[in-house]
Amino acid sequence: MRVSCVQITSGSFVILQFLFDLLPSSSGLGHRIFNPATRVQISLGAFNFNYYWRAKFMSVLVVLGTQWGDEGKGKVVHYLAEQADLIVRYQGGNNAGHTLIYQGEPFVLHLIPSGILFPEKTCVITNGVVIDPKAFKEEIDILHSKRIPTDKRIFISEQAHVILPYHRIIDGIFESYNIKIGTTKKGIGPAYADKVNRLGIRVIDYLEDSVFKELLEKNLNAKAPILNSQNVNIAKLRQEIITEHNELAPFLKRFVLDTRLLLEKSINNNKKILFESAQGSLLDLDFGTYPFVTSSNPTVGGICCGAGIEPKKIKNILGVVKAYTTRVGEGPFTTELSNKVGDILRYKGQEYGATTGRPRRCGWFDAVIVRHSSKVNGINHLILTKLDCMAGLDKINICVAYKYKGNIYKDFPASRTIQKSAVPIYEEMDGFTGKIKGITKFNDLPINAQKYVKRLEQLVGVKIDLISLGRKRDEVIEVTENINWFN
Ligand code: IMO
Ligand code: MG
Repeated sequence: MRVSCVQITSGSFVILQFLFDLLPSSSGLGHRIFNPATRVQISLGAFNFNYYWRAKFMSVLVVLGTQWGDEGKGKVVHYLAEQADLIVRYQGGNNAGHTLIYQGEPFVLHLIPSGILFPEKTCVITNGVVIDPKAFKEEIDILHSKRIPTDKRIFISEQAHVILPYHRIIDGIFESYNIKIGTTKKGIGPAYADKVNRLGIRVIDYLEDSVFKELLEKNLNAKAPILNSQNVNIAKLRQEIITEHNELAPFLKRFVLDTRLLLEKSINNNKKILFESAQGSLLDLDFGTYPFVTSSNPTVGGICCGAGIEPKKIKNILGVVKAYTTRVGEGPFTTELSNKVGDILRYKGQEYGATTGRPRRCGWFDAVIVRHSSKVNGINHLILTKLDCMAGLDKINICVAYKYKGNIYKDFPASRTIQKSAVPIYEEMDGFTGKIKGITKFNDLPINAQKYVKRLEQLVGVKIDLISLGRKRDEVIEVTENINWFN
């Protein structure tokens, strides 16, 4: 065989990837020289073969929430995880709550990616996440009690920051005298605040005894005024943290590595990687309903900083969207229904927080926020969930724009005043009835349900490719069949 010519369509430097591909990947040489748009022409006698690398490349998929969380990301990730090699969390902490069904029983994960339920998958928690070592151990213990193996399948970044008991205490204190956000009180905001203040303790610091003790002292000193103001016994708190540390540091150690490097190697070895956001895009620190947001970036940009991935490597961005809207905690919610319809949605959708058990606020579909999410994230596929929970309503409203002081807003406004006081402009549609659960073909849905889905698609400007009609993995309609989500 003679390789007669190497043609590089993207202008980058490539030396016969084909030959490298023939090397075993264990040699460390194979698969190393990559370019997504590289074409190598190989001549065999009179025949020319074009060898494309693109088909084997770009296998990074992102699953994000497009509203205020609880869109059903857990189920979608579980559905797609079967096709992935690695499932990755890149932001947030144990404030997330993903309800899954395992061996017929509902099961909630807060920190560990839902891919853990597939024995051959690897789960990664990267630097952008804040990790509560105690909560992490509790989750591992639960997995073990269910006989789900965790060894060499879960990795946490040495650069992730840890949540310690004082973060949880401060989260509670802030809630009582700052603006009430309605946080999960897991210490998420205070841990990210320490990171930004350069006082944070990373996993690698937590593992180094002397470094940890020095940083702990610095932190307790810095936080003494606020802790004293609530009569917290700092000596007792210090002892509690040190005792926990003695047990948790050796436990944590076996899961820790450089996750950025792991992801880089995995991408170079054509592994399929699925990133899952922990919160919805409207809870994003920058693009959400600030200050009623979480303290990290669940939007797609969070992946680049939170995991160390090049933006160019991200291929598909899936937005999970609920057929109506919910929110937990405080903050603006233009389409909120404080009436019987809201109660019906809460009852039918079982809208109670997976992390805190709080009843979720419920309302009509808000196309303004979902359009905003789709633009901020560059969403190219939508997955609609809980359509079945809307069956039985006589009329359905969709918010197409906001109105405030005579002005119409089609794009999500940043002003707190407008977010709080704008009124929704609704488009009314006829409702649908009947048993929706169990349907697997789009055309078998009641005609009004089909019209509703099509209208949502139009208003958001992205195709709805999958519809989920229940918690179980197989309760889905593949509107677009045979999608290769990773390519
Ligand atoms: P999943 O994974 C819904 C909300 C809290 C609060 C705000 C800030 O189920 O989509 P935090 O504790 O993060 O500082 O609280 O964010 N919040 C969520 N709401 N689902 C979640 O996760 C959430 N995680 C945080 O209710 O309003
Ligand atoms: Mg939740």
